[in-house]
Amino acid sequence: MNSLAKSRLVQGHDEAGNGLVWDEALIRRYDLSGPRYTSYPTAVEFTPDFTTADLLAAAERSRVQGGPLSLYTHLPFCARLCYYCACNKEVTRKRDKAMPYVERLLKEATAQARLFGAERQVRQLHWGGGTPTFLPTAAMRELMAGYRDLFNLQSDDARDFSVEIDPREVDDQTLATLWDLGFNRISLGVQDLNLKVQKAVNRIQPLNMTRAVLDEARYLGFRSINLDLIYGLPFQTPESFAETLEQVIEMSPDRLSVFSYAHLPERFFPQTRIRAEDLPSPADKLTILHNTINRLLAAGYEYIGMDHFAKPDDSLAVAQRHGELHRNFQGYTTHSDCDLVSLGVSAIGQTDDAYFQNTSVLADWEQAIDDGRLAVVRGVQLTDDDRIRRWVIGQLICHFRLDRQQFEQTWGRAFDAYFADELRQLAGMENDGLVADDGHALQVQPQGRLLIRAICQLFDHYRKDGAGQRFSRII
Ligand SMILES: C[S@@+](CC[C@H](N)C(=O)[O-])C[C@H]1O[C@@H](n2cnc3c(N)ncnc32)[C@H](O)[C@@H]1O
Ligand code: SF4
Repeated sequence: MNSLAKSRLVQGHDEAGNGLVWDEALIRRYDLSGPRYTSYPTAVEFTPDFTTADLLAAAERSRVQGGPLSLYTHLPFCARLCYYCACNKEVTRKRDKAMPYVERLLKEATAQARLFGAERQVRQLHWGGGTPTFLPTAAMRELMAGYRDLFNLQSDDARDFSVEIDPREVDDQTLATLWDLGFNRISLGVQDLNLKVQKAVNRIQPLNMTRAVLDEARYLGFRSINLDLIYGLPFQTPESFAETLEQVIEMSPDRLSVFSYAHLPERFFPQTRIRAEDLPSPADKLTILHNTINRLLAAGYEYIGMDHFAKPDDSLAVAQRHGELHRNFQGYTTHSDCDLVSLGVSAIGQTDDAYFQNTSVLADWEQAIDDGRLAVVRGVQLTDDDRIRRWVIGQLICHFRLDRQQFEQTWGRAFDAYFADELRQLAGMENDGLVADDGHALQVQPQGRLLIRAICQLFDHYRKDGAGQRFSRII
């Protein structure tokens, strides 16, 4: 094995003293594929059997239980199409589509506030897309003013109100308006700074444009500023991506998401505009990832897990150190105790024992709202087993550790008896050095951290055989 194939990337920063080890043989064997576990069961288990009546019952249980809320809004419009895009979006130049959409959102919000409880504090609020900043500022104001009337939005500094920003869709009013409306966190879509790559994916976004938005956001007081990057895009090389990364590090965002591009043109129509022969080879893609991790760790970022990095003083890294990190549809989060009320086309909501999703077809969502119906079309009611496994997967994916005593205190069951099958299967991973078991806790080892999806999959009732074929592969 050459020196690049197995290298210690960093000495640990967490209590367990774990770092991250790049072991190429293991990475190739286990791959990094599998669900991203932003929910458990994952969205492929959602079924149309989950009806409006089920949602009403779940919302009522949530309301009776009380507690704070997270409020997600899906804003699907984009002015231009990025060819790699796998998000639920509607490409249009017609800005006048924004206001009718906002009006329908407020109608939906009125119903949902009544169902879930208008008095509950909204601690976390997120606008995702599509492109939230497609909305003219008047539409943004209208939407937030409506939410303030309908919900109990937290106003102190502990609130976590975030928005996804496409820097190409920002004018001189946008950020100041968002700040004024109470947003305090932003995430900027960047993907790659190389012009040839940008041309190939139809997203021309000069460095200066990104930097100007980031600087203004910082000046206004936004914190936990995140940048999204994607590796595996056409014409990327290890050298070109290294240049992008240097420019990104120089801008010093608080967090970075580094996503893997999976070319699935049969599933995502825009990707038919990307030629497979222009993509980096699997070996180059792996080198890009390896170099990226090395460089970010050297630059002082911590590896949170999956695709996420954060500065040590960012709330995400702090929450991980304190054992308070959680995972939901917005990825890693510091707010777990919140049920999730979701508004807009394709939006997914969550309570303690249910997930439910609106239709992904814009015209159907509009029709449902106009008819005064809820737009839910699928979901899943969690069994006790689902809730137990969700907890286990959450512990592993957020903290790389699973404590038997904590499990038994939380669930009143003996871990070894409940997971006898899984523990037998885990033996292979233990032999490979991915996981260690000292009898008290399972601890994901430095060479297992990048393979966390494969480890979690062992505890996934729905893909016990590692059936990750419906999920993107990384190499
Ligand atoms: C809704 S977009 C972010 C906001 C805004 N629309 C933008 O593009 O700037 C969410 C993020 O998903 C990521 N993404 C979209 N399609 C992807 C794909 N096929 N593979 C990996 N990441 C993808 C991109 O990094 C993108 O920034
Ligand atoms: S990446 Fe963002 S801007 Fe581009 S098409 Fe997708 S949602 Fe729209």
